[in-house]
Amino acid sequence: MKNIVVLASGRGSNLQAIINAIKEKKINAKISLVLSDKKEANALKIASENNIKSKFIDPSFFASREGYDIYIAELIKKENPDLVVLAGYMRILTDKFIDSFEGKLINIHPSLIPAFQGLKAQKKAVEYGAKFSGCTVHFVTKELDNGPIIIQAVVPVLPEDTEKELSERILFYEHKIYPQAIKWILEDRVIIEGRKVVIKNAKYGTLPVNPALEDF
Ligand code: GAR
Repeated sequence: MKNIVVLASGRGSNLQAIINAIKEKKINAKISLVLSDKKEANALKIASENNIKSKFIDPSFFASREGYDIYIAELIKKENPDLVVLAGYMRILTDKFIDSFEGKLINIHPSLIPAFQGLKAQKKAVEYGAKFSGCTVHFVTKELDNGPIIIQAVVPVLPEDTEKELSERILFYEHKIYPQAIKWILEDRVIIEGRKVVIKNAKYGTLPVNPALEDF
C-alpha cells in the first residue's frame, strides 16, 4: 500500500480531509506519520485521534533551519513515503530538503498561484480587490509557492468579503482538490513536464475546478 507523510503546523483541516478520503476508500494509502513544528497544532490531535503516529519536533532545539530540516528529512525517509504532503505547514523548507523529496513533495496554497504567494494569501486577495481567487495544489520547488501546478479551484471574491469569509469559501475547495491530487499521484496518473503537469485521462477545461474533480 502507498504511504504518505504529512507535515502540518496548525488546524489540520486538510489533514482531516485526507484522512476522510482514506477512510472512505477513495484514496488507497495510509498515513504513516504526521510531523509538526508546533506543539499545539490541532493536526497532532487529529493524528492521534485517528491512531496515526505523530511527532512534534521543536525548532528551538536546532541551531539552524538546515539542521532542523536534515533531522526531519531523516525521520521522513525512515517511513519510505511515496508522497510527502504539506498541509498548512508554515515553515519555509530548505533547498536540501526540497531536493531530497523532489517530485514527491506537494503543497496546497490558498490562492491561484502565481497570485498572492506567501503568508496570508486570502487577506492579500481581499485587500488587492481581486474578483477571483482560489486554491492550488502544486509540486514544491525552491521558489516559494511556485512549483508546477496540479489542480486549481476558483472562487469569487465578493465586495463585502472579510479575510475569514474568503478563506472559508476557498477551504471548501481545498478539501476537495487536495485529496483528489493525492489520489491521482498515487495512481501514477500525474506526468510532470518541466513546469507543466498533466493528469492522464483527466477532463480539462472545466470550472470551478480544472482539471475536473472525479471523486470529491
Ligand atoms: C490552508 O488554508 C492552507 O491552504 C494554508 O494554510 C491553511 C491550513 O489549514 N497554507 C498556506 O498558506 C501555505 N502557504 P489547515 O491546517 O486547516 O489544513
